[in-house]
Amino acid sequence: MENLVIPKSIAIILDGNGRWAKKRNLPRAMGHKAGCETLEKTVEDCVRLGVECLTVYAFSTENWKRSAIEVGALMKLLRFYMVKLIDVANRNNVKAVMIGDESRFEPDIRKGIRKLTEATKNNTGMVFAFAINYGGRDEIKRAVENIVDDVESGKLSKENISEELISSYLDTNDLPDPDLLIRTSGELRVSNFLLWQIAYSEFYITDTLWPDFDKEELLKAIESYSHRQRRFGGR
Ligand code: IPE
Ligand code: IPE
Ligand code: MG
Repeated sequence: MENLVIPKSIAIILDGNGRWAKKRNLPRAMGHKAGCETLEKTVEDCVRLGVECLTVYAFSTENWKRSAIEVGALMKLLRFYMVKLIDVANRNNVKAVMIGDESRFEPDIRKGIRKLTEATKNNTGMVFAFAINYGGRDEIKRAVENIVDDVESGKLSKENISEELISSYLDTNDLPDPDLLIRTSGELRVSNFLLWQIAYSEFYITDTLWPDFDKEELLKAIESYSHRQRRFGGR
């Protein structure tokens, strides 16, 4: 593929693990496990392509509504993959950060998040932002609470409130807004992901289920992005 324009910042809504498992008569948890393996490969593919920031939606604030069995399986995978990600990140000079509200997780998971971010914080390559217990509305709500606190304590005045300031109070504060937003499994919705940050992102939706998403699929998304004409409201 010629003349690929590599997006600086890619965001992915990884969807379809359950359908992938169902097609194979496997429990949903097996779909999530396969999805974790795809995630690991995707991180490496993005590093090789020169992507600067990859943000992945792995668990939403709404996903707690799933059965206790499924949530339990997801937490078990999270515990395991957070440790594994330290190696993947360090091998690839990747800095891992977490976005979302970690306060709802068990203490050992919160410790795992800290270990992952601490162990990779000096890496200078791609930033991998892992969205867990993440909801765009929840993120904005928490940002508003913090802005109000800072105005009330006198750290900030109302005149300081700008779009840039609001961005800086979000979990993504210094991360670039996504140039390309990918969703697997064909659903045509955002499902509460990065509501503020995707104002001018280009969307790419594929029917491919997340566990089947590979480098070829990633290149197809980037190829499509390469032909987009971004206008940002201008002409
Ligand atoms: C995405 O796969 C992973 C999470 C949301 C945790 P799903 O579990 O949503 O898979 P489908 O949509 O049921 O196929
Ligand atoms: C979005 O997928 C959330 C994540 C990928 C983590 P869902 O499967 O939860 O979204 P809906 O329910 O189809 O909108
Ligand atoms: Mg889904």
